[in-house]
Amino acid sequence: MDKTARYFDKWATIGRSEDMEIGHGLNVNKFLDSIDFDRKFSFLDIGCGNGWVVRKISHIPNCKQAIGIDKSKNMIEKAKMKRTSKKEKYFQVELESWKNTVKFDVVFSMESLYYSVPMEPALAKVYTILKPDGVFYCGTDFYSDNHLTTRWAKDMKIPMDLRSKSQWKKMFEKMGFTTRTKQVKDPTHKSKWKREYGTLFVIGKKQSVD
Ligand SMILES: C[S@@+](CC[C@H](N)C(=O)[O-])C[C@H]1O[C@@H](n2cnc3c(N)ncnc32)[C@H](O)[C@@H]1O
Repeated sequence: MDKTARYFDKWATIGRSEDMEIGHGLNVNKFLDSIDFDRKFSFLDIGCGNGWVVRKISHIPNCKQAIGIDKSKNMIEKAKMKRTSKKEKYFQVELESWKNTVKFDVVFSMESLYYSVPMEPALAKVYTILKPDGVFYCGTDFYSDNHLTTRWAKDMKIPMDLRSKSQWKKMFEKMGFTTRTKQVKDPTHKSKWKREYGTLFVIGKKQSVD
């Protein structure tokens, strides 16, 4: 089994998925709550962990279906146990080898894409599974401008693709996305990096067909 999947299987059994739900929650919820989901949409969370974002999104009235995928079996088991709506579905699968045929209006991922090293093939897969005009909201705390988080690669000892904010943006643009970025900070948090840099969201819109 893949080293990253094994790592997060362990995290799922020691309560770290709930720690991430709390730790990532403030910035992610702030970000997601700023999006106007004003049309019917289908939703995919890549590297969904215990499914907390999928659960949240599934309760938005315009959400038709919310799917979470994760390559960790234990994370997916947790997510299935915590299910709160019939709109939620979970699959244990790695993004890059997922043989799905369905395309999505909205794709999201938090702290997940950079575990694909290099990220480009994973990002190319995201591009193919989005509908024209679809949007990818990609959150990361691990980026080189946010220098206090860069040691995570050494601490975790699993492959992680470290890029700067401008490299993230360029990578999305090269893939064909119309791209913007947003940093969500937490001004009262005890961690300096959350106060000063925060979570970087790279937002990529797929071209429409004309
Ligand atoms: C740091 S955790 C974040 C989990 C969740 N997004 C959250 O914020 O709580 C990263 C998750 O992404 C999953 N993951 C990493 N690379 C993946 C890939 N290529 N395909 C599917 N899942 C992946 C891992 O198994 C792990 O559960």
